[in-house]
This record gives sequence, C-alpha cells and structure tokens, in this order.
Amino acid sequence: MCGIVAYLGSQEAYPLLIKGLKRLEYRGYDSAGIAVLNGEGLKAYKRKGKVQELEDFIHSTPPLGKAGIGHTRWATHGIPNDINAHPHLSGNGKLALVHNGIIENYALLKAALEKEGHHFQSDTDTEVLAHLIEEVQNRGQLPLEEAVRIALKRVVGAYAIVVISQDEPGKLVAARKASPLVIGIGKQEFFLASDATPIIEHTRKVVYLNDEEIAVVSLHDGMKVKTIQNEVQTPFIHELDMELESLEKSGFDYFMLKEIYEQPTTIADSMRGRINVEENLVRLGGLGNHIDKICQARRIIIVACGTSWHSGLIGEYLIEDLARIQVEVEYASEFRYRNPIITDEDVVIAISQSGETADTLAALELAKEKGATALGIVNVVGSSIARLTDAGAYIHAGPEIGVASTKAFTGQVALLTMLALVLAKKKGTINPDYFHRLVAELANIPNKVEKVLEYDAEIKYIAREIKDRHNALYLGRGCNFPVALEGALKLKEISYIHAEGYPAAEMKHGPIALIDEQMPVIVIATNKSAYDKIASNIQEVKARKGMVIAVVTERDKAISEMADFAIRIPDTEEPLTPLLSVIPLQLLSYYIAVMRGCNVDQPRNLAKSVTVE
Ligand code: F6R
Repeated sequence: MCGIVAYLGSQEAYPLLIKGLKRLEYRGYDSAGIAVLNGEGLKAYKRKGKVQELEDFIHSTPPLGKAGIGHTRWATHGIPNDINAHPHLSGNGKLALVHNGIIENYALLKAALEKEGHHFQSDTDTEVLAHLIEEVQNRGQLPLEEAVRIALKRVVGAYAIVVISQDEPGKLVAARKASPLVIGIGKQEFFLASDATPIIEHTRKVVYLNDEEIAVVSLHDGMKVKTIQNEVQTPFIHELDMELESLEKSGFDYFMLKEIYEQPTTIADSMRGRINVEENLVRLGGLGNHIDKICQARRIIIVACGTSWHSGLIGEYLIEDLARIQVEVEYASEFRYRNPIITDEDVVIAISQSGETADTLAALELAKEKGATALGIVNVVGSSIARLTDAGAYIHAGPEIGVASTKAFTGQVALLTMLALVLAKKKGTINPDYFHRLVAELANIPNKVEKVLEYDAEIKYIAREIKDRHNALYLGRGCNFPVALEGALKLKEISYIHAEGYPAAEMKHGPIALIDEQMPVIVIATNKSAYDKIASNIQEVKARKGMVIAVVTERDKAISEMADFAIRIPDTEEPLTPLLSVIPLQLLSYYIAVMRGCNVDQPRNLAKSVTVE
C-alpha cells in the first residue's frame, strides 16, 4: 500500500529515488512523484501512472540535489491523478511530504485549516498534514522536527511520513504509526523507505522505526529518534539479511512466475534446521518454550487475511486432526471488531506474509490486550507483526514481489504442517510410525514440487481452454478445500475472471445451478479418503455439461478418465497434498492472466501489503 523512498547524503538524489520507487512499485502503482531539494528550493514532479511515466515526464532535465523524497501511490483519498499524487507541498511550497496510511480526522483538520486561510489543491488527507505542519511551525516558530511532532499529536489514523523542508536543508524528518518505515544508514548518508527493498543495494545497516516514533536524520548530527511524547529513544541497528538477486526477475517474465518456480527452494528453506529425518525430529526454535503453552491452550485462534487466511484454514485441518487441539480461523478484519471472547488460555497466531497487514496487526494487538499468548508466522523479518508477537517463526521465503502471493502461501503451509507435527508429538496424539512417515515425506516435498513444475507446458495448454471464460468454480475436500479457495482467489485477482472456491460437497447446495457448458470446474481430486465422493461430485458436473479440470495423483485412472483435463501431481501423504496441489492452480492462473494480456505482477486495484483498513 504505497511506497516511500527518501535520500539524504552526498550523491544525486534523483536517480536513487527513481530506482527506489521502481523497487517499491509492487506496493502501489497508480501514480508516483518525487521532490528534490537544491539551492534554489524544492522541485516536485508528480504523474498519474507507473514510475516509468514519471521518469519519461521528467525525461532529460532531472532535478539536481542531494536530498529528496519519493512516493508510489495506491489511492485511498482522491482518485489517482497528477494532483493527488505525492509528494504534497505546504501552502508556502517550502515543505514537502510523502505519506503512507490514512489520516482519519483529515476532514476536521482541513476545515480548521481552511478557516485559517489555507487552500488545498488535492483531495488527499496527506496534503492536509503538510499544511498542518506548516501552520504549527509558523505559529510557534519551531524547528521542523518539533512542528512534525506537535502536528502528529493531532492526527488520528495511521502514517509513515518523510518530510523535507527548504528552510532546513541537510535534514529529513520521518515518523511512523501503524505503517512501516525503515532507515538505512550509510557512510554520511541515509536511505529511508517503507521497506528494505530499495535500501539493500546501498547498506545493510537499518533501523526500523517503532510506532509513534519520530526520526531526524541530519548530515551534521546523524540520526536522532524520539517518541511523539518527546522521549529520547536509542535506535537499535539491525543487519539486513536479504539478497539483491531476490529483488530481480532473473530472466523470468514476471516476478510471480519466478516466485512460483522458487518454491522447491523456499519450502526447503522454511524447513532448514527444523526437520531432521534421521533423528525423526521436527523443532520450531522460535516458538521454543511456547510449545507447552500451545499444547495446553483452550484453543488456538488463527487471525489472517486473504491467502494467509487460506493457509490458516489448512493449519486448522492439520492441527485439529494430528494434535487434537481446537483451532478457529478468523478473518482478522472481522475478529478485531466483533468483541471476541478471548482469555489468557487462548493462543492467537497471526499469519502474514508482509507482517504489516493493518487488520491482522490490530487483531493481534486486541488478542494481546485480552491476555492471550500472541504468536506469529511471518515472512518479512523485522516487520510490525513479527515485533509485536511474544514468539514466532519466520517462513524464510525471501521477498515476495508479485502482488499475488505464491511462495509465501506454501511457506506458511509448510510451517503450519511442522507446527502440527511438533504439537502432535508433544501431546502423543500421533502414531510414531505415521509421524516418521510424515516427517520423511515433508522433507521430500521440495523434490515433488520440482516434479509438479515439470507439468508447466500441459498446464499452459489447459489455460488456453479457460482463458476466455467468464466464471470458474474450484472444488476441494478436507485440507484441499482451502486450496480450492486459494486457486479461485489467484484466478480472480490476476486474470479478473470471476471464480469461487467451495467444499466439493457444498456444490449441491447452490453453486450447481451455475453449471453449464460455459463453466470450467477445477476439482482437486487427490484425497484418498474421499476419492469416491469426489468422483461423484465430478459426475454431477459432467451431467450438467460443465468442463472438468481435475488435479489428480500420478497413477490415477478413474477420475482422469472422467475429467476433460487431468493435471498430475506426485502422490504424497494426504495432509501434505496442499503443498503440491496448489502449484498447478498458481500456474493455471498465471498463464490465463498472461494470455488475457493482464499485468500479472501489478493487477488492477490491488497492492502488496495492505497497511490500511
Ligand atoms: C493474495 C494476497 C492477499 C494477501 C493478504 C494478506 O494473493 O496476496 O490476499 O494474502 O492481503 O497479506 P499478508 O499475508 O501480507 O498479511
């Protein structure tokens, strides 16, 4: 949800800002802008559309200056256009600001400022904040950082901001509340951004600002951090653990395809040091002494959104089945507002790729307030959710740039599978032979994912058959029902084909009315325990002339013969099938979207990391 980048140092800011914005474009891409400061003052350029359009617009006369701020936007207040794009300037044009998040009381603030004679150009909440800082500064004759601090005390909502002022060159002021901001520390230079992706090629030393903290970076005085309440803080410098290569497409047409193909490695990475087949061991060090607490918990509540919610549903199937602990999976956005009953006997697990999703973060905060143990399964190291939890486990999938989540999903599922195994062993609810088989098979899953990827050309062929349809139905049973939901979500978000996921048996209770020769039905038919029932569901679709695409295991005969198309995946233990069955669905959506001419990595209306409600 919007990307911020800023630079202060001895290099020209413009090329660094543009490169940084391109790295951040996956966070929002409906408009972009920069402001650069030099001896003549602030020069701001803003453009609707992609960063490339901004670059083309600035073209041959890039602004000179060694300090600047940039932004790539995902619109909240005001349509995407040149005027609403950031940075926003104060009334006197001396101060510019980029902002992620939402200022909820902006209308009240705007009305009060208008009374003081302020005029606004845009429809945004951000411009109001720029004017508010100017007003506070002018009234009190305050230094920039003090004006920002006092202005932010009047703001209700979420923000990550960077402010630059021509009256105080050699300085940037940044602040955060519920929206991430990272400060990279170089040699006599600073790189500020909403995540580490534009920073990594310049420095590995970073400080993650905490909520309600303000940082001043200055060429003369270095970095100083204080809270909005004016308490001085000692910033903690982290070492970034991220490879630059993971931010490049490396020869793939899209990040999404690259990330699908990375899954043999990322699943293996999620298990590295955690699984030992010879010793018949699974351990999740990050959860350490919380494992006993989970085993004794009244129930586990998983809170998440979107794809992460789907992986949570798979976790529910596995943990309840193997470890016999009650699990509830909640949409974080509903959980946080419905006054849920939570006690200190509950364990709440937040699942999030970004670790920044506003609803998931708020759900976790609520759970903590009510005394629950708060755990996390997160991808982005150092993210807000990771820092809020009592303990947790990273999935180690590396940066996920494609807006549609793929490798993070399988990383989450691998982690939840390990968690189910750890809990089951501890509680003694699993037969030791079965435990051993599952551990050995889980360790072998990356090889089997490689095998699924070998069916790429066949999946592409099937994509051609579906690409012009308007609807699709995905069916699955047991732990493959959430995979059906995930397959449907992938299709709709990147190809804009309407798709629904259902438990296969639910089809008779309504969706069957939709089936005719125009309706492709994608059925995950790998569950041995429900094979005959799934076969009957397929017959019901065929009887109504629906087109059946079945995901089956390699030696399958009966369902493959019934289906119009069969996609084969290697056989595995049933609880592990989601790690394989989701891969062809990801590829299918990818190829359909490409064939429909969609921008797979930057689908319309979406953005990675939903840091606003
Ligand atoms: C779908 C997708 C989203 C995210 C959701 C939660 O492909 O990516 O549905 O899963 O916005 O995001 P995280 O996992 O970052 O909390």
